Amino acid sequence: MANEKIILTGDRPTGRLHIGHYVGSLSRRVELQNEGDFSKMFVFIADAQALTDNIDNPEKVRQNVIEVALDYLACGLDPEKVTLFIQSQIPELCELSFYFMDLVTVSRLQRNPTVKTEIAMRGFESSIPVGFFTYPISQAADIAAFRATTVPVGEDQRPMIEQATEIVRRFNYIYGDTLVEPQIMLPSNAACLRLPGTDGKAKMSKSLGNCIYLSETADEVRKKVMSMYTDPLHVNVSDPGHVEGNAVFTYLDAFCTDDHFARLWTDYANLDELKAHYMRGGLGDVKCKRFLEAILQEKLEPIRQRRKEFEKDIPAIYDMLRKGCEDAREVAAKTLDDVRKAMKINYFDDAALIAEQAKRFSQQ
Ligand code: TRP
Repeated sequence: MANEKIILTGDRPTGRLHIGHYVGSLSRRVELQNEGDFSKMFVFIADAQALTDNIDNPEKVRQNVIEVALDYLACGLDPEKVTLFIQSQIPELCELSFYFMDLVTVSRLQRNPTVKTEIAMRGFESSIPVGFFTYPISQAADIAAFRATTVPVGEDQRPMIEQATEIVRRFNYIYGDTLVEPQIMLPSNAACLRLPGTDGKAKMSKSLGNCIYLSETADEVRKKVMSMYTDPLHVNVSDPGHVEGNAVFTYLDAFCTDDHFARLWTDYANLDELKAHYMRGGLGDVKCKRFLEAILQEKLEPIRQRRKEFEKDIPAIYDMLRKGCEDAREVAAKTLDDVRKAMKINYFDDAALIAEQAKRFSQQ
């Protein structure tokens, strides 16, 4: 058990998953599941965390639990290999969060850069829900309860993993070696770290309407690619173009391989050649967009088909999730047993404590 490698990661169910999630994490998760280097893998739907900043719309969270589960299955996560579960169904996570709260100061939470940005984005400055403010603690509990060694997440989650590591270290220092210090696993391709929206803005986000969802129809994908932001200075085909900040090229960086050129566009051997031509001038946006669209359609079509199949039996998806929750709970319960033992709050199982107290009082 000591050097078991365990993966845990999750998503907030606030919308369907999009291609940013796919390149940033989903495709890697499927590889990890299939490579078999890890003895256990947990992927969960963080509904309780989603509620921390969606309390005005809990129904959105509820509706999206199943959407995210379908997206997971459509991408190829296999419940035989990965435990898929829903965060709120694991009460042990609340218990561990409660103990972890004693190991973190308010000022440390205030310094968490991701929380800082999120507070500003949500206009929470004057009235931050306590649950939202403290979600890094609950996230540390998610990670520690499953003894995760490895947490595949995007760069924006780095402060969360750092904070989780600090909390675990502090716990182990106070109570003795009990919990496992996690490590972040970042996406390997730089373009995947943060895929911009189709409008070229920093991040895909539902509120900006700049996402390409995994469950999108082929028609919708075509429309979205064709109207993508490119280079505002590239007015005529003959003008030199810029690839930096050009969403079409950022997507190509993330999705395209030499093999795509060999099969779909033999005018170029690789993306560098295509970029060189674009920058020289004489290459139109539409051609590049058609190429990108072909690549995306090829990638998304099987995902779309699998999703359709899974959508035919929704009760079976909930059954699968229930089973996942049961398995996950067993693991978390075992960790919490160890935590209570380390904290010496397992009074009724502690025969030595009872004997010691009995002795103390009999001597009075
Ligand atoms: N905060 C993550 C997100 O917004 C979701 C999440 C919750 C998570 N708990 C986690 C990710 C634990 C990794 C590990 O996407």
